[in-house]
Amino acid sequence: MSELLEIENLTVDFVAGQRVAHAVRGVTLRLGAGRTTVVLGESGSGKSVTARAVMGLLGGGARVGGAVRLGGESLLDLNERAMRSRRGRDIGLVPQDPGGSLDPLRKVGAQVAEVLRAHGVLTSRAARRERVMELLTLAGIRTPERVAKSYPHELSGGMRQRVVIAAAIACGPRLLIADEPTTALDMTVQAQILELFGSLQRELDMAILLVTHDVGVARLMASSVVVMYAGRVVEEGPGDRVLDRPAHPYTAALLGAQPHPGVPRGELVGLPGLPPSATTVTEGRCALVPRCAHAVAECSTTSPVLEPVTDGGSVACPVPWTADERRVG
Ligand SMILES: Nc1ncnc2c1ncn2[C@@H]1O[C@H](COP(=O)(O)OP(=O)(O)OP(=O)(O)O)[C@@H](O)[C@H]1O
Ligand SMILES: [Mg+2]
Repeated sequence: MSELLEIENLTVDFVAGQRVAHAVRGVTLRLGAGRTTVVLGESGSGKSVTARAVMGLLGGGARVGGAVRLGGESLLDLNERAMRSRRGRDIGLVPQDPGGSLDPLRKVGAQVAEVLRAHGVLTSRAARRERVMELLTLAGIRTPERVAKSYPHELSGGMRQRVVIAAAIACGPRLLIADEPTTALDMTVQAQILELFGSLQRELDMAILLVTHDVGVARLMASSVVVMYAGRVVEEGPGDRVLDRPAHPYTAALLGAQPHPGVPRGELVGLPGLPPSATTVTEGRCALVPRCAHAVAECSTTSPVLEPVTDGGSVACPVPWTADERRVG
């Protein structure tokens, strides 16, 4: 049986003159209806580019390969007009910069109503206005009438994020893509928004593709986890398996990452240095080699492929750095 979302060997290069940025280098992932897949990884690992490829929002300079299917339909083959109709209706987006997705000059209620109008969901203005109130309420807003009449700058960050979520779920999408939806919010509001995702998912049976670099968020939300490094999936599997018993040294480092005196900003504990940039990363070797304490000669001469892990999912690391019983074969 095919899953709701299927990404197969997705590659995305950005070409600018002589420079090519290999942002995504062969990502495969599947997401079932009503489930949550968390995409985890450091800054620059290709999480947002993967999400934008699904939305058809990569822009002109992008060279895309592989396949993206939603409910069996190939999205990469659609023209812009067809893609625009899928966006918002079948796929809702909560973008990485939620502030930027609201028009500062329009009242937020009108902006949510516009999503309904654009997709022809409700033809009468009165019906749309009523639905906007329902959507704002669904997004956890207790005073929808007041909020609908507000401009974005009159609302708190958490409230703006709820409005963006109301717009994203307006047409009842089968898939919600949320890119770092809580990064800009304080801890309390963050917890409320994550809880809201959970309740919306149960009510609307929505699949969620949640992008984050926050392991705590992954723990709360994930049915499954996909760990990305330098444009590749290095490990994937059921959330509890990946987060409790990581099979890749990179995942283990991410899980152990904590602010630590003496470790420069951006570095992970036990994993010195920074990821390669998308313009310098090379094929034919494991991208983690310069940072990995477990690397052997083979890691510099072959590109590791994903192999099954006995207790669920798969890992792209042939080095038995961890207990052998975790590996197949
Ligand atoms: N339009 C673009 N043109 C050129 N390079 C790009 C473009 N968009 C992204 N990249 C590059 O692709 C790589 C992956 O970027 P991406 O935004 O997916 O990272 P990310 O995992 O979302 O990181 P973050 O956690 O910081 O959001 C980066 O090296 C980035 O510089
Ligand atoms: Mg990003």
